[in-house]
Amino acid sequence: MTKLDIYNALLAGDSPEELFCRADAERKNACGDSVVIRGLVEFSSHCVRRCQYCGLRRDNLQLDRYRMSLTEMIAAAQRILEAGVRTVIFQSGDDLTFTREDISLVLRAIKKRMPEAALTLSLGERPPEDYQAFFDNGADRYLLKFETANPSLYEKLHPGQSLKKRVELLEDLRRIGYQVGTGNIIGLPGQTVADIARDLEYLKEFQPEMIAVGPFVPQQQTPLAGHPMPGPELVLKVLALARILVPAAHIPATTALATLGGHELQARALQGGANVLMVNFSPSAYKGLYRLYDHKACVDLEKAKEIAALVKRPLSLARHDAPDGIACPSS
Ligand code: 5AD
Repeated sequence: MTKLDIYNALLAGDSPEELFCRADAERKNACGDSVVIRGLVEFSSHCVRRCQYCGLRRDNLQLDRYRMSLTEMIAAAQRILEAGVRTVIFQSGDDLTFTREDISLVLRAIKKRMPEAALTLSLGERPPEDYQAFFDNGADRYLLKFETANPSLYEKLHPGQSLKKRVELLEDLRRIGYQVGTGNIIGLPGQTVADIARDLEYLKEFQPEMIAVGPFVPQQQTPLAGHPMPGPELVLKVLALARILVPAAHIPATTALATLGGHELQARALQGGANVLMVNFSPSAYKGLYRLYDHKACVDLEKAKEIAALVKRPLSLARHDAPDGIACPSS
C-alpha cells in the first residue's frame, strides 16, 4: 500500500466493509482465529507528565491517586496466571518512584514462579538503562505509544516532550530485544487525515509486534475536556489499515473503543483486524481510580468470553508470541 492508498482508504467514507473484510482475512491468515487474552494490572496512577488529553497528568489535582505495593503487584500477576492467562501487562503513569530495582524485583519474582509467563511493561519513558535492566530481569515486551506521528502536534499535546525522543526510545527497546508495542490516538484536536496517514506510514516502517489504536476520549479534569470523540468508523478504518500494513502484529480491541461504542464496537474491531482483548485484573479498590479518560469501560474475563462469543471465535489464554518469536498458534 502506498501513502496515497492509505490516504484514500482513510477518506473513503462509503464502503469500509471491503477494507474490514481484507483486514479480517489478514488477521486470520497471520494470527489464526483465537481472541488472545492479556491480563492488565494498572499499578500506579501517579505521573510526572502533562499530556493534555490524559486524566493522570500531574496537573490534575482532583484525581485520587494510588500506588500498589510490590507485593500487591506480584499478587495481581499471580491471580492472572492462576486464571490461566499467560500474559501479564503492568501499566502505570510515568512514575519514577518505582525504581529500576523495584520493577526488576517484581519481574524476577514472577518469572521464578512462572517462567513461561510473558511479561509486558508499559511504564512510559525511562532511561534506556532501565529498559535494559527490566529486559535482563525477565520483561519480554514493552508498550510505548507514539500517540501521533506529527511532531508539532506531538509537542503541543505533550509539553516538555518530543516525538524524536519517543521514536528513539522505541528504537532502543527494539535494539535491546523487546517485542515492541506502539500506537496512536485518533481524534486528537487539530489532527488531520494526513496526520493519521503519517501514523500509519510510521507503523508500516517500524513493524511493531503490537499495535494499539484507540479513539480520543475526553476527561473532565484535562484541558481537552470539551473536545469531541471521533466517529467509530474512522477508528475502525485505522485499525483495519494497521492490520493490513503490519499483518502479524497483535492488535487489541482497546478499552477506549469500548468506551466509545460499547462492547459491540470491540466486537466489530475483532471482525476488522483486531485479535486481542485486554482484561483488567487490577484490584477492585483501584479499578475506578485509573482515570485516563471518563467512563472508562472495564473488560473482565466473563465479558471477554461474551465478546469472543459475539464474534464466534475461541478465546485463548495461552502465551502468543509475536512473529519473531514463536508463531501465533491458530487456536
Ligand atoms: N483518550 C484516549 N486515550 C488516552 N490515553 C490517555 N488518555 C487518553 C484519552 N483521553 C492513552 C494514551 C496512553 C495510554 C496509556 O492511554 O494513548 O498511551
